Order: sequence, then structure tokens, then C-alpha cells
Amino acid sequence: MTKKVILTGDRPTGKLHLGHYVGSLKNRVKLQESGEYDVYVFIADLQALTDNARDPEKIRKSLIEVALDYLSVGIDPKKTTIFVQSQIPELTELTIHYMNLVTLARLKRNPTIKTEIKERGFGEAVPVGFLTYPISQAADITGFNANLVPVGDDQLPLIEQCKEIVRTFNSIYGDVLVEPEAMLSENKVCNRLPGIDGKAKMSKSLGNCIYLSDDKKTVASKVMSMYTDPNHIKVEDPGNVNDNTVFTYLDAFSTPEHFAKYLPEYKNLDELKEHYKRGGLGDVKVKRFLINVLEDILEPIREKRKYYENNIEEVYNMLNEGSKKARLVVKDTLNKVRDAIGLNYFNK
Ligand code: TRP
Repeated sequence: MTKKVILTGDRPTGKLHLGHYVGSLKNRVKLQESGEYDVYVFIADLQALTDNARDPEKIRKSLIEVALDYLSVGIDPKKTTIFVQSQIPELTELTIHYMNLVTLARLKRNPTIKTEIKERGFGEAVPVGFLTYPISQAADITGFNANLVPVGDDQLPLIEQCKEIVRTFNSIYGDVLVEPEAMLSENKVCNRLPGIDGKAKMSKSLGNCIYLSDDKKTVASKVMSMYTDPNHIKVEDPGNVNDNTVFTYLDAFSTPEHFAKYLPEYKNLDELKEHYKRGGLGDVKVKRFLINVLEDILEPIREKRKYYENNIEEVYNMLNEGSKKARLVVKDTLNKVRDAIGLNYFNK
């Protein structure tokens, strides 16, 4: 039996952060270790260039940072094919074929793109490559016949767009492309981790991130500055655990084992929350606990990162090998696509 294919990627526009970790990276490692899937993970440098064309150096630098982040969280190139989008020109030809199947109106309606255009203040001056990146993303997914795409919930409209392209293509040219499904995290907070300022999403552009590569001191000071309940002024005051970033992070990261290890007066998060709601529990105590929880996760990641930082050549080789291997898969898909459209004039 052939294994199901899982594919997902990240734009290299900076280092990866805790939002990526709970939303996606952690789950990728789990899927990889299950042995049940063919897993592809890639660095979407072409997509990153669609709104960074004038700053390619940023993408080049981030590419290696993201690769280091992958390896240090435990994505293992022996089990997962790690590749770089730009090294597979066949993806770009797939994009060209799909472009004929998508209207301008449809692209402009895509909620993710709409938000991103607004955030960037593009208006009508949006680069064509940016507006059309959902089509290129559909090529990424279908090029590998991906069945499952693990993503955060902001990516759902892009998966929807991809499905539409698959259906349209298959209805015109015959059953060639595989229709993917999004794979969301089971833990809801993990699909959209807020920033340390409590804003909707941890994001580099909002400057509210804890990076996987942050050192211990930086993590501690970021947690200490975190947004909590503004009405919880004195320790005795009853506090609110909803919209309280420290508790949202504990929802995402803490386990009963963390309580046994660092805060044995409480059995689990529910007990801690009850105490906070009653009053008599100070923010600093909860924050100190969160720092311990995060350090438990981040320390081993930092250690691994150190090794790869000292062996950068090895990392580039790994990306090159992964890209060569991945390219063969997309070559095959493209060939089928060209056949289906009827472009292989000289093969028969
Ligand atoms: N759009 C994704 C992001 O911003 C990156 C991406 C590009 C991707 N191509 C993809 C994700 C294909 C999943 C599948 O993070």
C-alpha cells in the first residue's frame, strides 16, 4: 500500500517562533515519527520573494535560519524530505498551467490574501506575483500529490483555492491531480498562538514573538513582559484567565508533568486557573512557571541548533540533496499534466 503524502512549508522571512512550533513544527515531527506517511517539508523562498523582491538578501539569510530551525526541532532529513522551492523549476510551470483556471476576481476574494494586502498597505499596487501566490501554492501541493497539508487556520482559504484548481483541472483534462485536505492541530490554541502582547497572532511583523533560537534570558524577559489581565492588580484580586496570554500559553504548552516538576502544589492547569480566578495568585508566580515550561521545550532545541550552526555546510548539502529528490516527484507530475493538456507533441 502506498503511503499518504503530507506536505507543508514555510516562507523564509525570518526565524521560526513558538507559534510555528505549536501550530505546525511539533506535529510534523510526530507525523514523521509515525512512519505512516511520506513527509515533505519545504522552504517557500519563491513565495517569500513575492513581497520581498527588493530584498533577496533577507530571504537568503532566512533560508538557512529556517533550515536550522527545522533540524533543531527534530525534523530529520533521513525520514522527511526537506527541500527548497526555487530549486524545482517544474513547480513554476505547473503554476503557469493553473493560472488559466483561476480568475482575478477569485484571487481578490481570498480572505487570506485580502488581509495580507491590507497589512502590507499594497492596495492596487499589489505585485502580481503576490496576488497569484495561492496558485503557486496549489502547484506546491499538487506537484507532490499531497493528500494532507498541515497548516494553521489562516491557510485554510489557500487550501480551498487549491482544491478548486484540482477540481477544475480534473474536470477539463481528466483525473490527474490529487485533492488535498488541510490538517489542523487538535489543540485549538495551537492553530493561532497570540503574541506576547496578547494580539491575535504571533508574527514577526508585529514584533511580538518568542523565537526558537532566543536565549534563556531573552525568553524570560519576554515572558515577564507578557500581557495578562489588566484588572488583576493586587495578588488578592480575582483574575481572568481568558484573554490572558500567560494562560493561553499554558494551554498550549503545559502538561501535568510540568506541574509535577515545577509547581507540585497544583495537579494541573485547571487547578491553577481556579486559584487565579478566586484571587490570591500573583502573575509573577504564573509567569515563572511558564518560563520553566518553555525552557523545558526550548533548551533541547537550542542544543541541537548549536551543532548545526557549527556544521552549516552539512545543512546546505542536506537541502541540496532533498531538493534533488523532491524534484523527481514534481517532474513526474508535470509530465502527466503536460500529457493531459496535450502538450507533449513530440513524445509519441
Ligand atoms: N503560505 C505558507 C505560509 O505562509 C507557506 C507555503 C507555501 C505552504 N506553499 C505551501 C504551506 C504549501 C503549505 C503547503 O506559511
